[in-house]
Amino acid sequence: MDGKTLTIDDPKIAFEPLAADHFILLHKWIQEPHVWQWWGEGKSWTLDEITAKYNSYTLRYKIDRGIKKAIHPFIINFQGQPIGFIQFYNAFDFPRDDGFDVQEIWDRKNESLAALDFYIGEPAYIGKGLGSQVLRFFLQTQVFKQYDACLVDPEKNNKIALKTYSKAGFSTVKDLPSIIIMVARKIEQRKPIVIFGSSRSDGDTLQAIKAVIKDLSVPIIDLKNLNIAHYDYNYENKHDDFMAIAEKMVQHNPIILATPVYWYTMSALMKTFIDRWSDLLDTRKDIGRRLSHKELFVIACYETSLPRGFEDAFSQTCDYLDMQYKGCLYFYSGEDPELAKDNESSAKQFSDRIFYSKENLE
Ligand SMILES: Cc1cc2nc3c(=O)[nH]c(=O)nc-3n(C[C@H](O)[C@H](O)[C@H](O)COP(=O)(O)O)c2cc1C
Repeated sequence: MDGKTLTIDDPKIAFEPLAADHFILLHKWIQEPHVWQWWGEGKSWTLDEITAKYNSYTLRYKIDRGIKKAIHPFIINFQGQPIGFIQFYNAFDFPRDDGFDVQEIWDRKNESLAALDFYIGEPAYIGKGLGSQVLRFFLQTQVFKQYDACLVDPEKNNKIALKTYSKAGFSTVKDLPSIIIMVARKIEQRKPIVIFGSSRSDGDTLQAIKAVIKDLSVPIIDLKNLNIAHYDYNYENKHDDFMAIAEKMVQHNPIILATPVYWYTMSALMKTFIDRWSDLLDTRKDIGRRLSHKELFVIACYETSLPRGFEDAFSQTCDYLDMQYKGCLYFYSGEDPELAKDNESSAKQFSDRIFYSKENLE
């Protein structure tokens, strides 16, 4: 089984706790015009001043009005290269100079609120849409491990920051004269799994899957590499690979079925797999029961035309098993550029529905 499960599990983004030998990078970046404009405080910084400011940060605190407050600063690495700086802290720990009181927008006694600041310092990495990816990954892997929500306060005329934060899931909660206060909320951790049923393991359907899951860590079960027999009324096939996949599948939610369109419907590999769900209503009811309420998404790769009624089998199977059918992404693999042009944006929207809750997108 193990060798047959492919995991895209290699995020290119990593966060390295700030250390003294990073000061030289911070000094270099603050001199970049696109950083200095927002972080420079109107002066030119020496390395000694950077060292004085960030020394205590390497010990994870900052002195504010004589009191030690916790702070969590990191260097952002992308494909092994340091490209920027990011930090988070308790939003209530640092009273603001502009008189805005965080309490005004956060009276939820039981929910904690962090704040974060960040910049991409390396000019070669700006304007590539990396910022929102970095933020999403940082919220998931750092901030939301300790806090329920996170605040940012971009300046109103920093249009790039506003766009980046909103792409990362932040929504405006207060519009002040010169800044906007935005908040992103922690969301239920999703644990998707892809069941992949194409007659070729490296074909168009795999490209569609990759467009949806990008570099997020999601197991992909390739049915082509497995031995899954047709449904058998006498369960003579009970020792093939099906039950191991079923056991794995019930540990995940949502379930994503990815199939090419072959003769107006799902592939035979996928159909054989779904036929075997009948085993879960009989010999392994314990597993079948655990499918109930799970979300099911479908990725369908097609070349000629959208097949009529393609989704009926999936949505009715969900009705029967008390699962929630969440829709299908039709990914075009043909040569018409007009039809291909929406693939990436549709895959991105579909991905947001799989990985992020609705509340966080609105
Ligand atoms: C046996 C077979 C039947 C197909 N039937 C259809 C079809 O009914 N409608 C369609 O749009 N494309 C059809 N196609 C094209 C495939 O859906 C398309 O090439 C798809 O991208 C293949 O994905 P794959 O590389 O994962 O196999 C068919 C391809 C094959 C091999």
